[in-house]
Amino acid sequence: SRSCMVGCQYEESPAGSRGPMLLLLLLVVAGVCVDSYKPVIIVHGIFDGPQQFQNLSRFIKKVHPGTEVTVIDLYDDLLSLQPLWKQVPDFRQSFNSIMKNAPDGVHLLCFSQGGLICRALLSTTPNHNVHTFISLSSPLAGQYGDTDYLQKVFHKTLKKNVHFICYNKFGQKVSICDYWNDPHQRLSYLRNNIFLPLLNGERPHSDMTAWRENFLQIEKLVLIGGPDDGVITPWQSSHFGFYDSSENVVEMQKQEFYLNDAFGLKTLDQRGDLVTCVHSGVKHTTWHSNFTVFRNCMEKWLT
Ligand SMILES: *[C@@H]1O[C@H](CO)[C@@H](O)[C@H](O)[C@H]1NC(C)=O
Repeated sequence: SRSCMVGCQYEESPAGSRGPMLLLLLLVVAGVCVDSYKPVIIVHGIFDGPQQFQNLSRFIKKVHPGTEVTVIDLYDDLLSLQPLWKQVPDFRQSFNSIMKNAPDGVHLLCFSQGGLICRALLSTTPNHNVHTFISLSSPLAGQYGDTDYLQKVFHKTLKKNVHFICYNKFGQKVSICDYWNDPHQRLSYLRNNIFLPLLNGERPHSDMTAWRENFLQIEKLVLIGGPDDGVITPWQSSHFGFYDSSENVVEMQKQEFYLNDAFGLKTLDQRGDLVTCVHSGVKHTTWHSNFTVFRNCMEKWLT
């Protein structure tokens, strides 16, 4: 952290002139500096929990010794299906208590559904101190695909019929429905989905300006995903791309929420604070355990 570096420079000049004691002091101070990585808060995805993030926690501590890593232990496994607006306040409590003890800021690393929980946290928490927000294969622009994962919830329902289940008061009580984005049911999505259209500023609401300001307090947004994910559909949703009404993928920079800067994405990009990282050959449930991905896409942002 910067304050720490100032401390180091301050100790440097007397050490040269006053001999070994101060040199020793300098080394100790320098050691402290090197070790002062910001705490990392991890938010898990659907159908998983802290257990699945042991490798990732190990990777972080190995390359940045002394980092405090917390995988928030809430709504694990089947409980992850609870409605997102119910989960967000509980995650906020843990998030706030870690932030409070980290005056130099924290990093937020969120996987899959967790990426949406984290966006909701960032948008609705004034004065948070998150530096880097890493979104690891998260359906940021929504989900439209009947993968194995979804079959657990929707059984044999075809993706074109899921909107009947999702786009009403009862469906919205299932987390997946909160980011189900059927490109053929645009009006119903905008009217009946109570989560993603608000987060993406696709349905205007009175808190939009405040949410954008809160979200823009992050210093870096890192988006990670890839074509062999197998769950996030289309996979480009991990980079804010999504289907148009003919199911062709429209990239982030051509999305309406980007063009009208509905929640700050364009500002982040123009500020130079939007980083994308694409990797092929990675299946959805292995993103967080792949050291190559960690090395290339995460390590340098977690200082
Ligand atoms: C890890 O990531 C690399 C780089 O994208 C990929 O080639 C490899 O297949 C992945 N390994 C596993 C076990 O997923």
